[in-house]
Amino acid sequence: MSNWTKKLFIRHADLFLKIMNERWSRTEESVNGMIKVLSNFGITSGNVLDLCCGNGRVSIYMAKKGFKATGVDMSKAFVEDARKKAKEHKVSKRTTFLEGDVKNLKRVIGRVSQPFDVVINVWTAIGYSSFEDDLKIFSQARQLSREGAVLLIGETAHSEYLSVKFMPTSYMEVGDIILLESRIYDQTTSQMQTTWAFYKKRGEDLKFVDRVVIVHHVYSVSELSALLRKAGWEPTAFYGSFVTLQPMNPLTSLNMVARAV
Ligand SMILES: C[S@@+](CC[C@H](N)C(=O)[O-])C[C@H]1O[C@@H](n2cnc3c(N)ncnc32)[C@H](O)[C@@H]1O
Repeated sequence: MSNWTKKLFIRHADLFLKIMNERWSRTEESVNGMIKVLSNFGITSGNVLDLCCGNGRVSIYMAKKGFKATGVDMSKAFVEDARKKAKEHKVSKRTTFLEGDVKNLKRVIGRVSQPFDVVINVWTAIGYSSFEDDLKIFSQARQLSREGAVLLIGETAHSEYLSVKFMPTSYMEVGDIILLESRIYDQTTSQMQTTWAFYKKRGEDLKFVDRVVIVHHVYSVSELSALLRKAGWEPTAFYGSFVTLQPMNPLTSLNMVARAV
């Protein structure tokens, strides 16, 4: 695991949890769209593998729709929060959350229900290390899935977007946290370096908490498609969002569908 992932998702798990919790409100409609896509493939129930599941928002809504979900995440705090939320949503029996590195996916999954009918990876949870590591992750996911299984990659950054719209800075306020983001993008390598500076509100003032420098590879559609084909997944569709199921364009996020071949 890279140092920045440990710093952001483990050391500062409490801060990232606040940001992740903001996404829960839009998860159900996104999962409804995923369910529609899956039903086009005749998949209406079965085993779901949620790669880098965070605190379980997609797994939990998939479980509420009748699927059996297994989420894997490197952060103990997120996995524990996912289990707590599964209990609150009354889907503990239909969900399993495992702490572990997705690069060692087969070992982490062990004997949990398989093969998987659906594999999900949401919110730019790829490109964190090398092409080879991502290939290893999606190849293992393929080996753990049945033929005809469907892979959904959602809410993901892509380099086509950056070629038409690049925001060097942005600002986010979540509860008592202020997050300032500044970005440097290298077009020649497709590497994005984003500095996240966290501040806590203290009355009228801000107290600096910490800075995390995130370095990740932003895939183009063709690069990611080539990686998935190598891993045994054939891309079949690209949407701008799983909520609307409108076609993808350079200004939307990447929401892709691939089939295990
Ligand atoms: C941007 S968050 C997405 C979380 C979740 N998919 C969601 O949409 O709410 C990225 C997640 O990837 C996890 N992660 C990063 N590298 C990982 C690795 N090598 N193995 C397992 N989880 C990892 C982090 O802990 C974090 O929860």
